[in-house]
Amino acid sequence: MTTTAESTIEAIAAGAYATVDTLERGLLSQNYVTDRGLATTLFLTLKLQKPLLLEGEAGVGKTEIAKVLSTLLDTPLIRLQCYEGLDAASAIYEWDYPRQMLYLRTIEATGGLDREAARHDLFGEEFLLKRPLLQAIDAAHDRPPVLLIDEVDRADQELEAFLLELLSDFQVTVPELGTIRARHVPIVILTSNRTREIHDALKRRCLYHWIDFPSFEKELRILAARVPEAPRTLARQIVAFTQGLREVDLFKPPGMAETLDWTRALLALGTVALHDEVVDDSLGVILKYQEDVDQVRGAVAKSLVGRAQQSVS
Ligand SMILES: Nc1ncnc2c1ncn2[C@@H]1O[C@H](COP(=O)(O)OP(=O)(O)OP(=O)(O)O)[C@@H](O)[C@H]1O
Ligand SMILES: [Mg+2]
Repeated sequence: MTTTAESTIEAIAAGAYATVDTLERGLLSQNYVTDRGLATTLFLTLKLQKPLLLEGEAGVGKTEIAKVLSTLLDTPLIRLQCYEGLDAASAIYEWDYPRQMLYLRTIEATGGLDREAARHDLFGEEFLLKRPLLQAIDAAHDRPPVLLIDEVDRADQELEAFLLELLSDFQVTVPELGTIRARHVPIVILTSNRTREIHDALKRRCLYHWIDFPSFEKELRILAARVPEAPRTLARQIVAFTQGLREVDLFKPPGMAETLDWTRALLALGTVALHDEVVDDSLGVILKYQEDVDQVRGAVAKSLVGRAQQSVS
């Protein structure tokens, strides 16, 4: 793949990933399993150069998509992890105060520059700390990076307002430096666990896709892609069990991450087929609340193991 300054998402999308099928196969080559709906949305994200808002339960592969896309398209991944209280400064840019102070002291001590020249230097690029949003639109990249704005529902509404602006114009104004405009529109993936609703104005700028818990077949394919060493029978039993577990009224049903961890754990324990004892002993790998473990351990687990055993017989 070329890395010329001219490369854009369009060029990428028109090349190796010109169709939904080729993109789906490309993602699979990176061990990411999609269904048709998700592959189509991702294809359109690249083609239309629109941000994508991914919502879904925990551990269904939202964050992973951004990582896989950046590998597949051979482009940098820039991640903004959102949290309560994250302010625009930490997300966009800050001035490096300690270094500015040091610089000031040095020129004071040496009796160097006049005030105006010092001010000019102090607020130059050298003392600018680029945070993820500025990094993503920074003209230094010679191809569009993937910008992952992860768990946007955890950030405050004020940050959402900044995002709205950024995702409309792909430019940032640093008062001392002027406006910095993206040379390449980044591939933007926003994720949310829906702990609160994202504002309609932000949604309007994005394509949207809800990732559900995987179907039996999809979960089996993901397991085969991620833990290929798992014997087929055991893999089918594990998936039958986790699918059944998601029908139980739990505080926190297991996501794909838990299925994968549990498979690795069972392999580490030398398990070749599910049985009541090993399931009860390893429930802590898939259930992360004591109330859920208490509810499942014993009768519920036994009946799910029974179903899982039948699913392969
Ligand atoms: N479709 C998939 N193909 C391959 N691996 C997957 C898929 N879905 C999930 N996984 C795997 O499951 C794990 C969890 O995925 P990820 O961290 O992306 O979930 P998430 O939706 O971002 O969860 P959270 O909401 O907790 O952040 C990762 O190890 C990822 O590789
Ligand atoms: Mg995530």
